[in-house]
Amino acid sequence: MKVFVTRKIPQVGLDLLAQAGHMVEVSELDRPLTRDELKQKVSGVEAILSQLTDKIDEEILDAAGKQLKVVANYAVGYDNINLKDAETRRVLITNTPDVLTDAVADQAFALMMAAARRIAESDRFARAGKYTGWQPFLLLGQDVFGKTLGIVGLGRIGSALAKRAAKGFSMRILYHDQKPNAELDAEIGSKNVEMDELLKTSDFISVHVPLLDSTRHLFSTKQFEMMKKTAVFVNTSRGPVVDEAALLEALKKGDIFGAGIDVWEFEPKLTAGLSELPNIVITPHTASATIEARNNMSKVAAENIIAALKGEVPPNLVKLV
Ligand code: DGY
Repeated sequence: MKVFVTRKIPQVGLDLLAQAGHMVEVSELDRPLTRDELKQKVSGVEAILSQLTDKIDEEILDAAGKQLKVVANYAVGYDNINLKDAETRRVLITNTPDVLTDAVADQAFALMMAAARRIAESDRFARAGKYTGWQPFLLLGQDVFGKTLGIVGLGRIGSALAKRAAKGFSMRILYHDQKPNAELDAEIGSKNVEMDELLKTSDFISVHVPLLDSTRHLFSTKQFEMMKKTAVFVNTSRGPVVDEAALLEALKKGDIFGAGIDVWEFEPKLTAGLSELPNIVITPHTASATIEARNNMSKVAAENIIAALKGEVPPNLVKLV
């Protein structure tokens, strides 16, 4: 059967698809396809292997045609896909959970450390030749060890971050989630609390929620004003969960100490003014960008397609609304 891969991914998944007897076409363009290009390329295929930059909705699904069986997203997040449109057309949607959990949790921790210890700012300072010798007050940051970490959204990645922080850095873990995790609480002493309590008492706040109507701008002026002035805020989930203009103001006014963001509200554009601030560390949506994670994402996306095209339930079927 025909599979269209919207952008080059590691070879391992492409090999699996070919070994399973499918005809695989990979976009040759090293950029997201335009709507028209995507519509043209998906026409007549049974499976689409999509990126989070591809908006998959009724227009694309209809352009593919009635034979389309599955859209396998090369990401754990799938807010780029209209699940209702897929359900109406009986198209299965899959994602790539688990295999990128550790990579993203590592990056969230790296951003916490970098913002707290002013690593990027120190690097810029050193490279600019500004270092004139050791100084008692040079680039003072915040301790990480033993502090309180507030995790908003305790799914796979939030839990993996909690374990790193509790076990490696003796941090007290608070979290806010609809579902308390009794097993994790017993293991590391974490505690599910109301959002306001988490915001007011955490030294570090890391966000791990999916992008939904209910989580859009979950963090805005009110939330930043509730945080400690010494707090460090980290987002590796989805950009629009944070009102970036409000984050800019909070960092400028000193409502919080610093921030680390891997996802931006208007990717690939960054809100004007953010990149000039010294107290924010910015990475370009690379939290899952390890060789291991990306190879495994390729494998998992392919396995989902192979199962779906055999008429089986794919391992990572996204529950439709
Ligand atoms: C995902 O998988 O949703 C990540 O954002 C990709 O890095």
